[in-house]
Amino acid sequence: MSQPTLPPSAQRRALLAFYDANARDLPWRRDRRPWPVWVSEIMCQQTRVQTVVPYFDRFLARFPTPASLAEATEDEVLGLWSGLGYYRRARLLHRGAKEVVARYGGEVPAGREERLGLPGVGRYTAGAIGSIAFDAPEAVVDGNVSRVLARLHRIETPLGRADTEKRLWAEAERLVFGPRPGDLNQALMELGATVCTPRNPSCGACPLASACAGRAAGVAESLPVPKVKKAPVPTHLVAVVATARGKVFLRRAQEGGLFRGLWGPPTLETRPAEPAQLGLLDAAPKPSAKDTHRPAPDADAARAALASVGLSARVEATPRGQVEHVLSHRRLFVTVFRAVAARLQRPDDAQRAFDDAALGDVGISRLTRKILAAGGFR
Ligand code: ADE
Repeated sequence: MSQPTLPPSAQRRALLAFYDANARDLPWRRDRRPWPVWVSEIMCQQTRVQTVVPYFDRFLARFPTPASLAEATEDEVLGLWSGLGYYRRARLLHRGAKEVVARYGGEVPAGREERLGLPGVGRYTAGAIGSIAFDAPEAVVDGNVSRVLARLHRIETPLGRADTEKRLWAEAERLVFGPRPGDLNQALMELGATVCTPRNPSCGACPLASACAGRAAGVAESLPVPKVKKAPVPTHLVAVVATARGKVFLRRAQEGGLFRGLWGPPTLETRPAEPAQLGLLDAAPKPSAKDTHRPAPDADAARAALASVGLSARVEATPRGQVEHVLSHRRLFVTVFRAVAARLQRPDDAQRAFDDAALGDVGISRLTRKILAAGGFR
């Protein structure tokens, strides 16, 4: 059966009417200046809108302009980003703000090429800023938009593949002409987030249902075909929660490592924990050839982790627990030890001890929060 079609102009009308009736009231929709739009679009990447809202409000209150962010320390920027994850985004936004000050007098540039030249601004972010803040007919394709368009046009090749992405961008560009490009793009995002959901889409409420090739073929819910992803690599670590007089010792993760620039406890990569060590009865995971070169996650490894940062402290013989944390490419299994130091070193830029209140002022990942909780601090 041939697909009933709606010409792009009718699709646009239907999308804008849907948006007018259903757009969520989000803080960055009340202020369409380029700076808040930029911040919101970076925060919304890989993070749910509801999670972003309070972070966005705090960040904009503290950094109302690119110049105010450009002048901030990385500690403060990462502190306000703490818990949002994907900290590279924050570092790039910080660099981007500095560049806007250095090259464009503190104003986010209106030209697309200039925007695309900013750190952390790719095709998606440039299009979102262009369409929402500058009313430019520039397309956006994110996860939500991909799902809507893959279903609408019954695109059955996997996401992430060059031909699929080219087709998705072409379809998005075909829709974004005429007035209200920012609303049109946000209507596609909104539709993907609230109606054209990954599971159980509400096709009855969809303004494009009559034009949807995926729905007509009964395959909408199975689209888009997901990106072919590598499984996250299991990585085992010990971490040491070392305290002295109510403070916990943390060091700043170095260039090149995980969580660069954030503060965390001393860690050391180990081979997998034996279940008995964790008080479990399951069969032990088989260590791989690589693992045999690594230390077991025992108190010796915890002492070595402390020694690597020059701290001496009395390590408890048995771990306090194990914390699991999934990142995009790795699944971390962290065996957490507790240690008590008689005194702490003189603080410097790479290591220092924090009391509970001071932890609020610097960048701390969710993983570190979990480790501190498992180690009995906080
Ligand atoms: N996700 C990314 N950008 C968004 C926006 N402007 N509105 C809603 N969800 C979004």
